[in-house]
Amino acid sequence: MADLKTTYMGLSLKNPLIVGSSPLTATADQCKKLEDDGAGAVVLKSIFEEQIRTEVSSTYDTLDGNMHPEAYEYLQADMPMRIGPASYLDKITETKNALSIPVIASINCTTPDKWVNFADKIAAAGADAIELNVYDIPSSPDVSGTIIEERHLDLVRAVSATVTIPISVKLGSFYSSIPAFTKALDQEDIQAIVMFNRFFQPDIDIEDISISPSTNLSRPEDLRTPLRWVAITSDEVECDVCLTGGVHDAEGAIKSILAGANAFQICSVLYSQEQDPISKILTGMSDWMDNHNYETIQDFHALLSNKHLNTKDGFERAQYMKALI
Ligand SMILES: Cc1cc2nc3c(=O)[nH]c(=O)nc-3n(C[C@H](O)[C@H](O)[C@H](O)COP(=O)(O)O)c2cc1C
Repeated sequence: MADLKTTYMGLSLKNPLIVGSSPLTATADQCKKLEDDGAGAVVLKSIFEEQIRTEVSSTYDTLDGNMHPEAYEYLQADMPMRIGPASYLDKITETKNALSIPVIASINCTTPDKWVNFADKIAAAGADAIELNVYDIPSSPDVSGTIIEERHLDLVRAVSATVTIPISVKLGSFYSSIPAFTKALDQEDIQAIVMFNRFFQPDIDIEDISISPSTNLSRPEDLRTPLRWVAITSDEVECDVCLTGGVHDAEGAIKSILAGANAFQICSVLYSQEQDPISKILTGMSDWMDNHNYETIQDFHALLSNKHLNTKDGFERAQYMKALI
């Protein structure tokens, strides 16, 4: 009988299926339902660094700018710790009390700033880990990729200096060298890299001549991008790797683990008409493991990662050439 137990970021999971951050994980009741459906862990809906800043900015304004500069600086830095958004913290504590699976908080952020001190409150509220959703849309031609990557590393450093609970970093897929950047991240004190975030992509309404919001759900084919990069990078980093993007069924879940992911996150399939997607994915994984005589997740983990394939043919250029020539 297949055993789906695993570990992720040092946390024990009853299975590697994590429900990704979204409005579906906004409340304790919703998360409890996901746990009852079988999820191994949940990532709470993200709080934005801007929300943290806004909450404390009025208090910054009331600080006396004429006071001793060091005292002023100290008070400013301390403020997010003292009066960050209480509702998010309450939600963490409420969810943690209602669930027995790990609860991962999520911060949507791009800059190492004073808001970072709020991370300590998230840990104190009971979160088992923090996922940093580095949601950056660079729009200035004057800021190079190197500068942006340095800023992201500074951000991770600042948060890891603040908390002792495990940290994961959720990336977009637009780095010029994903292996180099994940390697650099791995040198920091983090426990996992999550690949990849799904950026919200506004559309254009050609009648109104305006920007319109669009639903941004994935399709199963979207799995191929994270699959490639998980396979290429997972052997090269010490930390765990979590795949997110396009896992809609047991097949996608199994592929994620074969490519080298320690866990995978799902979101879009939970918005679809699919009945009981969590239980279907877990049953499908179990049945497949039984059919292939794999007893544990470790038995087939990373069997098709780049290094284990022991050939450059798997996920690199050669496969493209084979398809076309
Ligand atoms: C409606 C919606 C809202 C989301 N909100 C967040 C969010 O608040 N924070 C975050 O890190 N990711 C968010 N995501 C991204 C998901 O957590 C997930 O990483 C992404 O959708 C890829 O997984 P999927 O293909 O299973 O949907 C959201 C995705 C969707 C579709």
